Amino acid sequence: MTHTTEPASGAGRQRKGGKGLHRRKFLGGMAGVGLGAVGAAGATFSLLSGGNANKAAAADATGTLTVPDLLEGTTSDGTTTYTLTAKTGTNEVISGVSSTTAGYNGSYLGPTMKWTTGDTVLLNITNTLGADTTVHFHGAHIPPKMDGGPQNSFADGETWSPTFEVKDEAKTLWYHPHALGTTAEQVVHGLAGMIIVEDDSDASAALPSEYGVDDIPIILQCLAADSSGDIKYNVTGYLGSGLSYPVLCNGTNVDSTTLGFTATKTRIRFRVLNASPADIMTIQRGDGGTLTQIATDQGYLTEPTEVTTIRLVAGARAEFVLDLADAVTLQAVVTTGWIRGGSGTYDFLTVTPEATDTPDDLPSTLTTITRYDTADFAARTITLGQSGQNMTINGSVGTTMDGMATIMTTLDAEEVWTISNGTQLEHSFHLHDVPFQLIEINGEEPTGVDLGWFDTFEVVGGGSIKIAMKFTDFTDDTYMYMLHCHLLQHEDEGMMAALMVMDG
Ligand code: C2O
Ligand code: CU
Repeated sequence: MTHTTEPASGAGRQRKGGKGLHRRKFLGGMAGVGLGAVGAAGATFSLLSGGNANKAAAADATGTLTVPDLLEGTTSDGTTTYTLTAKTGTNEVISGVSSTTAGYNGSYLGPTMKWTTGDTVLLNITNTLGADTTVHFHGAHIPPKMDGGPQNSFADGETWSPTFEVKDEAKTLWYHPHALGTTAEQVVHGLAGMIIVEDDSDASAALPSEYGVDDIPIILQCLAADSSGDIKYNVTGYLGSGLSYPVLCNGTNVDSTTLGFTATKTRIRFRVLNASPADIMTIQRGDGGTLTQIATDQGYLTEPTEVTTIRLVAGARAEFVLDLADAVTLQAVVTTGWIRGGSGTYDFLTVTPEATDTPDDLPSTLTTITRYDTADFAARTITLGQSGQNMTINGSVGTTMDGMATIMTTLDAEEVWTISNGTQLEHSFHLHDVPFQLIEINGEEPTGVDLGWFDTFEVVGGGSIKIAMKFTDFTDDTYMYMLHCHLLQHEDEGMMAALMVMDG
């Protein structure tokens, strides 16, 4: 049974009524309100799971987890070179139906890259899509000229070769297109891949890191497609008929399939990316147990933290570990982040241990996070708005470089931004360049895992977040970073602004 009929979660409760029901909601923004952000959602869900008597046995796996290939680089003179080709192909987004798709080095999604802190990487990326594209390294702290934003657009037949030093510490990033107006279309057709940054910290040495063995990438997507398999990505498409909202794990449809993974180690680390165009994915265990979260978007938490749910808005990542005694089913609770979208609880993966090792205790401290004292930080307000069919930031429609609002700042500036959602829609705020700390979420101080580092965070309809950041290392008077909603449709409709960091 993939669609749980008695779900443990608040989101799931909305869809009692049986297997296979996909309730469409037309006021997506409200979906988030009752659930709150990650920490608040955890509290809500733990109350519910306390009353959840049916400790479900693990779901039987009827498929096998596909792990994206690890992309081998070639290293010479201290530079590691990776080769990627963006190409078209086909994939069964809906089981049994072939969809036209795209991928990097394959027909859907892309290989995982591993970068090492302090190394220099060079990427040779060739575009064979028949349309302009870019490749953005979401969450990476790199120069604006290498960031893969709209100004880095390159045409069919061309190769783009960004190179930079990896300044990020251990974390999970991802890569995807970012050209003006075509981001949603290209990402939902399959152009997305994971990046693992490794470092030599004590925490990294103590945590599972054998890719595909005890360090497992999980790329979740909720798409929209018609019965012929045509993948939709804009208003016209979403208003079409016969749509379904397939849920995919690493490119495999899990609507009525539970994938299986045999764990040959007792402790498994999962890196989860929500690569959906809009929907929120909440990860939980089918048995109501806890996940040990170790990282948010931008790296380790100060300490391993027990949570019952991990709520990921579009674009967000998290890492957790499980010490397995028995088989565990992982569920994704899908809630819509927009006027379109899926809903329901999906048993997407059953992990079955076949291991005899006894792992050491997890380190009690993973990293140190010094909280920003924002007393002297410069304040700004970023307003997410709507204007007719377009979406705006600070009143400007960001569908062209000339039309979008531009935030001007200087090197090493310390700022505190209030991201204010002037619409009743859910948004997922993403900032390029530097990680941020949450100072307030809808007027409340953050707690728990919300004290980690982020680059993408939920802003509920009518709500606001206050975030703090410091613009270190990179300036450019031509190339800009972006800040935008990571609901890809909103981004393409103009909810995007530019950030220029100039010499002080
Ligand atoms: Cu994941 Cu500006 O993007
Ligand atoms: Cu949005």
